[in-house]
Amino acid sequence: MSSHARAHRSLLSIEDLSKLEVRALINKALQLKSGEVFPLKQESSIVAGLIFFEPSTRTRFSFEVAAHRMFINPVAFVADSTTSLSKGESLHETLNNLMAMQPNILIVRHSGDSEVETILRESSIPVINAGSGSLEHPTQALLDAMTVFERMGNIEKQKILYVGDVEYSRVANSGRKLFQSQGAEVAVCSPAEFCGGEWSQLKQFENLSEALSWSTVCIGLRIQKERHGKKSILSVEQYIEKYRLDNKNISALSSSAIIMHPGPFVAGVDISEEILQDPRCMIHEQVTNGVYMRMAIMGELLGISYT
Ligand code: CP
Repeated sequence: MSSHARAHRSLLSIEDLSKLEVRALINKALQLKSGEVFPLKQESSIVAGLIFFEPSTRTRFSFEVAAHRMFINPVAFVADSTTSLSKGESLHETLNNLMAMQPNILIVRHSGDSEVETILRESSIPVINAGSGSLEHPTQALLDAMTVFERMGNIEKQKILYVGDVEYSRVANSGRKLFQSQGAEVAVCSPAEFCGGEWSQLKQFENLSEALSWSTVCIGLRIQKERHGKKSILSVEQYIEKYRLDNKNISALSSSAIIMHPGPFVAGVDISEEILQDPRCMIHEQVTNGVYMRMAIMGELLGISYT
């Protein structure tokens, strides 16, 4: 991990990792996947605290599976009506209490709340960011990069196309930085209202078919409507017309290219379900790779040895 991350032994942002550290994690995850290396059983029990203040299917289950395979015991806290949040306890006090129980590592998903961010940055327990609002989702970016590397043989020669709501997507915000730092070209095909900040500086495509014929890796995204606030956005019908990935427009993509999506996808809006049958579709392979990548990340932060 980079100097900031080494001091805290945490992975809060994809920028905590150098180019070489990203490559090392991809290599380790691929070795774990192929069975070339196997984690050594720990002498004393290690506890991973999974703290999810926002909903999750893939990330939480993936970390739990990864923890079991690393001989780590996962203990999950999921913010719902059974917790003391429902009695009025604040997020940051909830977090302080869970940290006071001193699990060996924390895996935290939250809305990007600045007080929570500060607590996590100052934590003496290693922390893995499992998604912070629309800011960052570094473990998803790493599993996406692993999937690209595994399938395409390299990252630096790829033309990565993000389609849809890039600005509010933590997956895209971490992924863009990772792919650029590895030397890949990144472009976007997105409605103007979803393409502010650093995204507006990238290569832009108005037309999805043109964008697809340029790309070697196409990454679809869900509309993050829960993060738009009062912002006025185009209608779902307009979005489907211009940005949905379906059999009609995906024919513009090369036969050697791949289709990815971090999930969850809204079938019929950001992607049509028929895409899952396309041989170029990596959506479920991404999920499989996520377990090995999260094993590699926890192993690195906890100093776990391998056979
Ligand atoms: N890709 C991802 O983060 O999915 P979940 O929200 O289901 O964890």
